[in-house]
This record gives sequence, C-alpha cells and structure tokens, in this order.
Amino acid sequence: MRVIAFLNNKGGVGKTTCSRTMAEYLSKVKKRPTLAIDFDPQCNFSHQYLKMEIDPAAPEGLMPPIHPDYDPQDPDHYDWDGRSSISEIFYGQGVVPYPTYIEKLDLAPGHAEKLLAAESVRKSEVVEKVHKQLANFLASPDVKAAYDTVVIDTAPSKGPLTVSVIKAATHIIIPSVMEEQPVQGIYGMLQLWMQESLSREKNRPLTLVGILPNMFKQTRLHKDILTSLQENTAIGKYMMPVKLSQRIVFAEIDSEDANPHSIFDFQENHVAKQEAMEVCEFISERIFTNE
Ligand SMILES: Nc1ncnc2c1ncn2[C@@H]1O[C@H](COP(=O)(O)OP(=O)(O)O)[C@@H](O)[C@H]1O
Ligand SMILES: [Mg+2]
Repeated sequence: MRVIAFLNNKGGVGKTTCSRTMAEYLSKVKKRPTLAIDFDPQCNFSHQYLKMEIDPAAPEGLMPPIHPDYDPQDPDHYDWDGRSSISEIFYGQGVVPYPTYIEKLDLAPGHAEKLLAAESVRKSEVVEKVHKQLANFLASPDVKAAYDTVVIDTAPSKGPLTVSVIKAATHIIIPSVMEEQPVQGIYGMLQLWMQESLSREKNRPLTLVGILPNMFKQTRLHKDILTSLQENTAIGKYMMPVKLSQRIVFAEIDSEDANPHSIFDFQENHVAKQEAMEVCEFISERIFTNE
C-alpha cells in the first residue's frame, strides 16, 4: 500500500488542492481503491466530499456528519455516536471511512476539536500517543485489504500531527508557491524528511517524490525563484519537472455546488486538466515504479 502525503508548514501553498487532485486522479482515472485522510484540523479536504457540521463543543471547528451506515437501532452501534473521523485513532476507537461521490474514493475526515486535542498530550507521551498512531492504523489488515493507496492532507505545521504523517508515509511531496515565505517552508520539510529517513528501517524507505511548484505565474518573481531553486546544489535535484499554474478553476471547483466538481470531469483539452494530469502521471509513475 502506498501512502502519499502533501506537506509544507506554510499555509495556502496548495496542500489541500494537490491532495484532492491526486486522490481524484488515483481513484477516478486510475481506478485504484483510494483512502483520503484529512489530518488538518481546518478540515478543508473533508469539506470537499462531505457536508461537514459545526461542532457544538467547539463552534470554531468542524466535525463529520452522521455516517450513512449508522443505525441507532442496531445493537452493534450502541456505543457509537454515528460520526467517525481519523482522529479516533488517538482515542482507541475504530475509524469508519465515508464513501464519496467518486466510486473508488473513501474519506476518513478530520474533526477539528479531536485533532487539536490529540496534539496537546504531554511531551513525554507524544511518541506513543501521537507519532506512532497513524502508522499503526494504516498497518491494520482491514485498511490494507481495502485500499491500495492513501492520500493524506496535512496542517501547515511541524507539530505532532505532521510528525505522525511523516512516520506513516511511504512517499511525500512538498507543494510550494514560488515566493519567499513558502520557499522557507521547503527547508523545514526537507529537514524533517532527512531526520525521518535516517531513523527508518532499510526496507521501509521514505521517498521524497519532490518539490511541486504550485500557483505558478509567468511573472519575473516566480520565474526567478523557480530558476534559483532548480540551480541550487542542495535542492535542485528535488525540484519536480512538472508544475501547476495559477488557474482560477482550482479555486472554482472548491465550492460545494461547483459543477463539475472534479478537475478530471472537465473536457480533455481543458488546460488545467491537462496540467493536473501531467503532474499526477509524474507522481504516479514515481510511486508505482516497482509494481
Ligand atoms: N494552482 C492553483 N491555481 C489557483 N488557485 C489555487 C491553486 N492551488 C490552490 N489554489 C487556491 O489557493 C487557496 C489555497 O490552496 P490550498 O490548497 O487550500 O492550500 P493549503 O492547503 O496549503 O493551505 C485555495 O483557495 C485554493 O483553491
Ligand atoms: Mg489545506
């Protein structure tokens, strides 16, 4: 099972957009049974596929709706409140993924309050209670039998939740806008990747697929920063040879009633779709090389 994560501790660089594009490519175009996981307390990824609800316990945060399989009359469900999110892994509960409008795509949504609470454990307990939990969940026989790829969206942070994702991933991608602040985020992520790589067993490497330029504009600033990264001796080798341009359609398909809702439902010659295809094909070829 391949576990792909999009990481950058800066916000607004396209982690969610790229996670979504990749998850939809794998499930819709490649027909691979895919599990999308939302590990960001902001729950933007979940919101693409589910009508998330305001959590009465935390009015600033979202929680998943009642699961379609929940039946309050079912005796097996007596100790279940009918909602399920990926954060259950921190509380010893099972995760029940939700189906989405895409046949081969399921979603383990976020739950703002529970994800935030998981991060607030004592430092002495963080390794056992947070860092290891996602890897444990993904190693379970049920998950391995049901899915062949997992795509994880992450929060803009280097905190315990992100560490948990890095420990669970087989492949990571760092999306970045070609501007000063987000480029700073690349360095922090490369450092986390190297640290984790050193502590991994040889038979379970963590592959950096690369740094993906996103929201690229043909401006002097973006072109100059891209060139300087490509020519940088430490970073150049990680720059992906593909990119996503700044295109309004990526923002438009975010809206709940957007039609089409997936970039892959646009016509074949749509420029943004072609670019998304190219990026996803590149990532997919790197990820499934020895299959
Ligand atoms: N290539 C793109 N072109 C245009 N808008 C984009 C592109 N990628 C992302 N966006 C928009 O930019 C905003 C931030 O992107 P998002 O994926 O949410 O970033 P992050 O998850 O890193 O915070 C969103 O409104 C999204 O729709
Ligand atoms: Mg996001």
